[in-house]
Amino acid sequence: MKPVHLHIYPDSETLSQAAAALFVEKAGQAIKARGCFHVALSGGSTPKRTYELLASPPYREQVNWLPVHIFWGDERCVPLIDLRSNARMARDTLLERVPVPEGQVHPIPCHLPPAEAARAYEDLLRRFFAESPYTFDLAFLGLGQDGHTASLFPGDPALSGQDSWAVAVFRADEGLSRVTLTPQVFNRAGTVAFLVSGRDKAQALQEVLEGDYEPLRRPAQAIRPEKGELVWLVDQAAAAVLDPDRPFVL
Ligand code: 6PG
Repeated sequence: MKPVHLHIYPDSETLSQAAAALFVEKAGQAIKARGCFHVALSGGSTPKRTYELLASPPYREQVNWLPVHIFWGDERCVPLIDLRSNARMARDTLLERVPVPEGQVHPIPCHLPPAEAARAYEDLLRRFFAESPYTFDLAFLGLGQDGHTASLFPGDPALSGQDSWAVAVFRADEGLSRVTLTPQVFNRAGTVAFLVSGRDKAQALQEVLEGDYEPLRRPAQAIRPEKGELVWLVDQAAAAVLDPDRPFVL
């Protein structure tokens, strides 16, 4: 059994500060050890503030941005300029304000048809991480009210352990496809950090952390890093119905 690191912060601002500090720490460690830092960003609204903080003092100056490589855990299949694009959100809040070389920013290529975009991204990741026992040094993830994470939604066949590293999923409710990395990619990361904020996430958080292991129903449960660490950064509102006495283990 592996412990799960659960940190509860008073509000979303302190949670975002902790996530920015985690980025700084992991970047420093990876660059010291291997000369580069590979991070997967998540979409959704929760990490926006973290990205803004990273683009501002004092965090901005604490990262050597030149050897940083930026990836995404999932993406909506919309043009890069579309406001729903996770890459666009990260560009607006972070990447336009820090000196990461353009060639080291690796958005999911959503100008391609979804299945091709997934294949192309999988090829890129497999090439990148071919020599390494780990994938990302750090992967940020979010949690949906239905227990989804990245674009791994309840019932998704990608949750049943297939070989693909990236898959396309059509979302009828949104009328668009998404591309998502699969659990096995996240599970080979050095650190996976979930950021969860708000009372509307409390029930989902409780079910994921305290419910039986049923990843097809609660996709976030499929994230169990093999050798890396799993960190949950949550605010008090999201933690509202957690059992305070329960040790969380994988
Ligand atoms: C996305 C995500 C998704 C997100 C959760 C939580 O692109 O939307 O990757 O998994 O992290 O839906 O979203 P919020 O942070 O907006 O609650």
